Amino acid sequence: MNPSTGPSKLSCCAEFIRFFAMSLANGTLYSPCHPQVSRLCGKAYETLRQALGEDQGISFLLIDDQIIVASQPLAKGPYAERVSRAFRDKKIEHVEFIAGVTASDILQLVGNLLDPKTSYENLAPSPQVRFGKIALSATEKMEKNDDGKENNLISHLEDLPQVEFRIFAEIYERAKSRQSFSLRGLSEMVSGLIGILREDLDSFLLLSALQKKDKYTFTHSTNVGILNLAQAASLKIEGQLLHDIGIAGMLHDVGKLFIPEEIICKPGKLDEKETTLMRRHPVKGAEYLHGISNIPPLAVSTAYEHHIDFGGGGYPRVPANWPLNLCSYITSISDIFDALRTKRSYQSPKDLPECKKIMLKLAGTKLHPALTSHFLSLADSVAIKSIGAVHS
Ligand SMILES: [Fe+2]
Ligand SMILES: [Fe+2]
Repeated sequence: MNPSTGPSKLSCCAEFIRFFAMSLANGTLYSPCHPQVSRLCGKAYETLRQALGEDQGISFLLIDDQIIVASQPLAKGPYAERVSRAFRDKKIEHVEFIAGVTASDILQLVGNLLDPKTSYENLAPSPQVRFGKIALSATEKMEKNDDGKENNLISHLEDLPQVEFRIFAEIYERAKSRQSFSLRGLSEMVSGLIGILREDLDSFLLLSALQKKDKYTFTHSTNVGILNLAQAASLKIEGQLLHDIGIAGMLHDVGKLFIPEEIICKPGKLDEKETTLMRRHPVKGAEYLHGISNIPPLAVSTAYEHHIDFGGGGYPRVPANWPLNLCSYITSISDIFDALRTKRSYQSPKDLPECKKIMLKLAGTKLHPALTSHFLSLADSVAIKSIGAVHS
């Protein structure tokens, strides 16, 4: 998503969808090589270029007959339906166009979508067109250890600093009973956090240290949201995308609310069967969030992807070369850092040098290497050193 998304960008996207749908329809009627298809793809390209503006990329999420751009649904209608169907037939739920995309890339995409012989596995997108899935029904692979003991009870919120954490607590209570919730409260909370972040990065980072007194899942989720915002802001991400990355961090583990409490609350390590159950939380979380209106698509993908490794392992299991979201990489880093510096019944909190050592070892396999070294350079800031001290 990008910060400058507004009505004109959305209307360009709607126009793109219209021309893209017409390209598909004409390609079906004649053939993808017909000059009429090239002409319409050229028009689609023009509108896409306008929608992109100065942005690095633009993502379309396709859920049922709904197309979502920058967290906002495009109007439903025959064009959106035609495009959604074409992608759905190939099991594609997310498509991203990168700056530099050409009219030939669009034409190639139309050809791929119309070719009955191509499937998700053998589609060959150009470097400027990336596909993905939210893949709510993917099989889970059980390889890695999970976070271990967690407790989803919410209490002791009175002393939390400056921001309305109560709103988040309420959202967690609603999620626990699988009720829907309004994103508005969470959006306000994240906006409040972003406001603090702008004023003073050091005290902002300390927010996550101050919350260790609360029960684990809730505290952990807030910390991951805060660490996500710090990482994203230091990568110069702004606006709606920054906001969504914060929300995605806060909701990444929401699926743990649907795991039996005796597993969540078990002191000590989980056995094999319990680990298997625990490892369902990414899928359960994504399924739950997928059903709630106005949730940023990024939060759905992040809930699903945050335990998938940079090197392709982890869980749930996904096809080779699965395109992970930037936010999922960021969230894995925040997640592991917060887990390492948190006290568990079977594990004492690690100090900062030890956290860094462990994270460096994971860089390139479990964690994204460049983002990890960026995070570790952030961790050298005074504020994160203080966090290490608070937790050690
Ligand atoms: Fe998790
Ligand atoms: Fe987590």
